[in-house]
Amino acid sequence: MRKIVIAGNWKMFKTQAESEDFLREFLPHLEETPEAREVLLCPPFTDLNSLSKYLHGSRIQLGAQNVHWEEYGAYTGEISAPMLTEIGVRFVIVGHSERRQYFGETDSTVNLRLKAAQKHGLTPILCVGETKKQRDAGETESIITAQLDKDLVDVNQGNLIIAYEPIWAIGTGDTCEAMEANRVIGLIRSQLRNSNVSIQYGGSVKPNNIDEIMAQPEIDGVLVGGASLEPASFARIINYQ
Ligand code: 13P
Repeated sequence: MRKIVIAGNWKMFKTQAESEDFLREFLPHLEETPEAREVLLCPPFTDLNSLSKYLHGSRIQLGAQNVHWEEYGAYTGEISAPMLTEIGVRFVIVGHSERRQYFGETDSTVNLRLKAAQKHGLTPILCVGETKKQRDAGETESIITAQLDKDLVDVNQGNLIIAYEPIWAIGTGDTCEAMEANRVIGLIRSQLRNSNVSIQYGGSVKPNNIDEIMAQPEIDGVLVGGASLEPASFARIINYQ
């Protein structure tokens, strides 16, 4: 059974105080959310510990935005999987296009991070997607196929979420048409060994397009950036019709 997973990726937004303000307003909205929907927040590392305590006993799960492949070592600026699991983090975003674009993440480091996350019991959310230039050149399918081929070597597809995030749709307000996102996600699914992997769409998901996106048969959830920062808009997204 494919699970519905709705995740907020806060990127580099919100201090601890701001994140607790968010939750005070957001949590009551969960009372309307069907049990079958898994709700996840992926705040900055510095918020994880306090949110983990704040959310104890709530149905919101926590995800980190990255993880290193070693358990410890001289890797200034990195965080390891045991550091995350110790504080109750269960998920981690890996290979986000912003990591690939600005911080030199490659398919081979993405692969190492995915395997390390799984080894320590974290569920990774692997992000794949094409640039505008690649889409215009008709390369969407080949780029995504190549990313999946390299990123998923020796990765356990029984403990994995994938997010299709077309780079041109991220933070631009230029959402991928729901039917086109559905088509690409179907293509991603056709390349997996495990047909139960949940596959999300991400890129300018908003309260005004969530219902149409979630009505698509191949789309199992969303990875939301900007619209997950406001309690009312993220609440509308998790409570899609
Ligand atoms: P936006 O929802 O702000 O476009 O960001 C999408 C994203 O990158 C989620 O990981």
